[in-house]
Amino acid sequence: MAKRATITFFCKQCGHETSRWEGRCPACQEWDALVEAPKEAEPVITKKGRGTTRLSTAAPHQGLKPLLEHAREKLPRISVPIGEFHRVLGGGIVPGGSVLIGGEPGIGKSTLMLQLLGALAASKQKDGTAGWLYITGEEAPSQIAARGLRLLGEEAESKGGAFNFRHERLKLASETDLQAILDMLNTERPQLAVIDSVQTLRDPSVNSAPGSVSQVRECAMALVDAARQLHCAVFLIGHVTKDGTIAGPRVLEHIVDTVLNFEGETRLDLRCLRSIKNRFGRTDEVGFFEMTQTGLVEVPDPSAALIDREGAQDKGAGSAIGALSEGTRVLLIELQALCVPVPGGGSPRRKGSGVDANRLAQILAVLEARAGVPFGALDVFASAAGGFRIEEPAADLPLALALASVATGRPVREGVVAAGEIGLGGEVRPVPRLEARIAEAARLGFKSLLIPARGRSHPAKVSGVQLLRARTLREALALALSGG
Ligand code: TYD
Ligand code: MG
Repeated sequence: MAKRATITFFCKQCGHETSRWEGRCPACQEWDALVEAPKEAEPVITKKGRGTTRLSTAAPHQGLKPLLEHAREKLPRISVPIGEFHRVLGGGIVPGGSVLIGGEPGIGKSTLMLQLLGALAASKQKDGTAGWLYITGEEAPSQIAARGLRLLGEEAESKGGAFNFRHERLKLASETDLQAILDMLNTERPQLAVIDSVQTLRDPSVNSAPGSVSQVRECAMALVDAARQLHCAVFLIGHVTKDGTIAGPRVLEHIVDTVLNFEGETRLDLRCLRSIKNRFGRTDEVGFFEMTQTGLVEVPDPSAALIDREGAQDKGAGSAIGALSEGTRVLLIELQALCVPVPGGGSPRRKGSGVDANRLAQILAVLEARAGVPFGALDVFASAAGGFRIEEPAADLPLALALASVATGRPVREGVVAAGEIGLGGEVRPVPRLEARIAEAARLGFKSLLIPARGRSHPAKVSGVQLLRARTLREALALALSGG
């Protein structure tokens, strides 16, 4: 039967499909997110024998076992020789698992994947027969190969090498056709396959262009399925643009086992790999890399990279350092704020970079209402250092310090680090993992840690770090800001 194309709409944000256009997505409530998509009238996967599923006298289901028996089946893991990557994955790669690597174009996703394959090929794997595949629809294989050999470098090669791009089972192909890729996986049976990128894939049975929601979703589902059946790990690269115009990562989040975001400012060298979802490990784990002339290099001490000790004196007011919990680690991160009079008397702007806009607005309101720091006619800008995106509520207090500092012209006292959540009443709320925060502040030579007064009691000084305790935001400002 000839298929008739009908028009549907999908949400750029969450992938929700609807037959009617609306100004706001009924699923995720995002405004102006619904866009038109041509779609097959017939579903691609037909449900066979609808209405024939009935209770029957079939034999017991083979997969039905006591929970304990399932628990004994340990998930095998492939160790990743890149430590930061290994940790973010929750302790290595799970065979048959699917991982989505999202990030802006140019951030370094292809480089990271190439290094992963090279590192796996160089490490002594137990299963010496399986290989590694890089399937690209983006760049020419010759380009990728040249980049790999450049990354190998003479120095690395002479030392035995962290990467091995000369391994004969490390293979590259340029391919965008889904069936051809599935066939390749079936015949090669690699340990790991990288698909660069999901937006270039094409399933001819889906009547829409590569990069559209239906194409991206159908292709990803087929690859995730194949990965499970063939016991091969599949890493899908997905571009995310700031305005979310390219379909992909958001739509795929519930299809894959693990979602990693590769973040950072493309202008800067620091990159952060963050787990957003992980069926095989904890989420919110972060790994740090630096983009260098010879590829991505692990950053052993991210705190040192995220605070600017030397520049602190020159900056004056408007900078504060937070001891923030990111995954299994605590990091010291610098937060900066700037206020300027609104040009021409328009309505004031509040802009956050790496800082959630709603959180910023709330803290400004609390500062005004509860601590008497006015921002009324000022444009306010706040940012986290190094292009890092801050998620932890404990960042409230250092952010409030940076904002109050710039508004009052009083710099934060030297050697002070802060961590605490701020409530609408201006109260400073307890945060977990105090010991780890103290340890990180001590390790980097900070003298004081400003924390909530509520919560577990601690001695006034721990590991050489003096604990300053504040019950309210007003108290916190009095303790941490100089002068006044
Ligand atoms: P790439 O991995 O191609 O990004 P993506 O796949 O996310 O689009 O890397 C893009 C940038 O990284 C490119 O602008 C050049 C830079 N780069 C380096 O600085 N050093 C290197 O060794 C490599 C391979 C890339
Ligand atoms: Mg790329």
